[in-house]
Amino acid sequence: MKPVNVGICGLGTVGGGTFNVLKRNADEIARRAGREIRVSHVGMRQTKEGFDFDGCTISNDIFAVARDPDVDVVCEMIGGYDTAFELVMTAIENGKHVVTANKALIAERGNEIFAAAKAKSVMVVYEAAVAGGIPIIKAVREGFAGNKVNWLAGIINGTGNFILTEMRDKGRSFEDVLKEAQELGYAEADPTFDVEGIDACHKLTILSSIAFGTPLAFDKAYTEGISRITAQDVTYAEELGYRIKHLGISKRTDKGIELRVHPTLIPETRLLANVDGVMNAVVVHGDAVGPTLHYGAGAGAEPTASAVVADIVDVVRALELNDVQRVPPLAFHTQQTDIDILPIDQIESAYYLRLEVEDRAGVMADIARILGEQDISMEAIIQKEPQEIGGEVSVILLTRKVLESSLNQAIADIEALSSTLGKITRIRVETLKD
Ligand code: HSE
Repeated sequence: MKPVNVGICGLGTVGGGTFNVLKRNADEIARRAGREIRVSHVGMRQTKEGFDFDGCTISNDIFAVARDPDVDVVCEMIGGYDTAFELVMTAIENGKHVVTANKALIAERGNEIFAAAKAKSVMVVYEAAVAGGIPIIKAVREGFAGNKVNWLAGIINGTGNFILTEMRDKGRSFEDVLKEAQELGYAEADPTFDVEGIDACHKLTILSSIAFGTPLAFDKAYTEGISRITAQDVTYAEELGYRIKHLGISKRTDKGIELRVHPTLIPETRLLANVDGVMNAVVVHGDAVGPTLHYGAGAGAEPTASAVVADIVDVVRALELNDVQRVPPLAFHTQQTDIDILPIDQIESAYYLRLEVEDRAGVMADIARILGEQDISMEAIIQKEPQEIGGEVSVILLTRKVLESSLNQAIADIEALSSTLGKITRIRVETLKD
């Protein structure tokens, strides 16, 4: 049977990894796919050394790949927004199937892209866009088809998790670890995407959509990064039996869907609390199956290539069946559009609060009164020894679950007390139980 021709656009970390894995494992991949899969055309702005380009056309214009009549499957591995969107739409227009690792593109323009792909009867697949090498898209989209998903929560940015882990375990500085993550090819071209949670939010948007059968809604998600977490908060959290992890959380509630990325305290005994370094993990809770944990490398050349190549094999198998819409791109043939994505002040969560207060009588009573007014119940309180009598003390509070708007009011009222010094640090707490 005729080989399937793959065109790769962009030969950076992911494109290069994909090229190498396709070459190295060609025989085994052909046995799985039922046909030989060969890279016939590579598009890259600057020619890269160190690859075996034998039998490959090389173009400096990536659009030449998308228009090449001999290419069956186009791999968009350039990243970014506008050019990547144009490239994918050009490939679809030319009747090519598309494989992408571009989470920003899918989260923000996926609704348009999938509509165009359906109209042209081609596949657009994106396993590598979420959690690197973990086959989480396939798991949620296909393996959960019998479930009503209740919630999912994940560590879905390898760079952020690597930074938090190295800072905690080795006391390294934020900048130093970030530099290493960039050298290892984990970090985004703009690393603020990693540390401010935008990359995780792109991935969460995709997971939420395929879990709940709703359109992609990146612009309605809440995002908070890790740059304001202090070493003090990490230590206090540990004293309370928690770890701080940067989580993406999406939950179905009676009022709507929660869609949020933020630093989160989770009990140290949870498996997710022990996912360290560049590793990612996602817990998906379905009504039939209960909690499931999906763990693996979330970034890096070959783990991501593993997901890209699996997508290529899926496309090739679908070609054999002549059925490119067997699995709808966003998991559901009919999407639910009458369900709201909740604004962040309408979510319910427990909270860790750290405040600096004056060391004098009546301060705790004022705080307790304000919390009582908002019907906020306490789980734990720690007051640290002051450096000097009458000086400043740190107070750490753990609340029970409460509506975020009530907590916001309590924070504003406590910050207005003359005894409160500066801003209160607030980190959401999730037990990740049923
Ligand atoms: N910058 C991303 C991460 C790469 O660190 O997880 C994988 O999407």
